[in-house]
Order: sequence, then structure tokens, then C-alpha cells
Amino acid sequence: MSKELDIKIRKIIDEAIKLLNENNIDSNNIPEQTGSFEKSTSPLLKYAESSTLHGSKETEPLLRLIREVFDYLPWKYNYEEREDKKDLGSYMGWAELIGPEAPYKSDDFCLGFTLISPYTLYPEHRHPAIELYKVLSGIAEWTLEGATSKRVPGEVILHPSNKIHKMQTYDQALLALYTWSGNDVVTLSEYV
Ligand SMILES: [Fe+2]
Repeated sequence: MSKELDIKIRKIIDEAIKLLNENNIDSNNIPEQTGSFEKSTSPLLKYAESSTLHGSKETEPLLRLIREVFDYLPWKYNYEEREDKKDLGSYMGWAELIGPEAPYKSDDFCLGFTLISPYTLYPEHRHPAIELYKVLSGIAEWTLEGATSKRVPGEVILHPSNKIHKMQTYDQALLALYTWSGNDVVTLSEYV
């Protein structure tokens, strides 16, 4: 399975870069695969279907590829525990394919997928990295520095370095492709 899995995930990276091409993401940023992909035990696996159902014609090819290997993506959540929602990691998280701790190791570029289950707030947070999102599935509310708008699949959202942002889902789960670039993609995001 492993070799076949590696090929499928590599295809996901290629398709993701293709989707972002208009935003000048350089495919030369794809490093060598140095780590392996294993069966995930994340609580997010239960959203495999619901988070990949509400795409657009443009994002559907990538969603189809993700669905096939969803359970083998490195889903995680590593914020400090919040007093107001101790189990938030069961409702949201991300799978990083390229990054400092990802199977495709890079210290200057990240690429992954953020998943937020229905009726969940991803609270205000910030990070030094410049973050570019492309919505793959689900309509949700996105807020950047206090300005909120509803974003649909296919839309691109830019979060400049250290600007506070949050997302709120309603009846649809959100799955979005993200990249981190800029001077510092190693410092983790933190809640504010
Ligand atoms: Fe962010």
C-alpha cells in the first residue's frame, strides 16, 4: 500500500499546486519526501465524507483525490488547550503535507489542508507566516482583522503576517487548502 499511497499523495500535492498556480506558488517548492504516511487515528476521520462533499467544479478533482486517502493524511491539532473549549481538537485540525514536521520536509514553505467540522469556531489566532487559503469544500464565514465575509469553494483568502483571523462554520464542514510562506513558517500559530 505504501508506494501506492505515496504516489496518490504526491498527486494531491501536484493538483494542489496546480490549483494555486495563479497565485504564483512555485512547483519547485516541493521538497523530497522524507517521511511516511500512516493510518491516522485522528477524531477528524469521521468528517472524511462531509468535509469533501461541498466543492465546486474547480475543486472537485482535488477533493476526489483527498477522499481516497483521507484516513492516511497526517491530521493534527497542536494548539494549547483552551479553557472555553477543551476538546476543540476533536472538531478542527489540519494535515500538513509540506512543512517543518511534514513528510515532505521544508523549513521555508508549508502546504496542507485545514478542516473545521460544522457549527465550529476556529478562534482568533495569528502567526508570522503569510497564509494563503483556497476553499475546497464548504461555505463558511471568514474574518480578517474584524472584517467578516462568507466564502465559497474556489475562493482565495490571504492572511498577511501576524494579522488576526478566525473562521466560523455553520451547516457545512470546511475543508481548505493552505500554504504558508514568508520569512518564518516555523513559528506555530497561536490563539490571541
Ligand atoms: Fe492562519
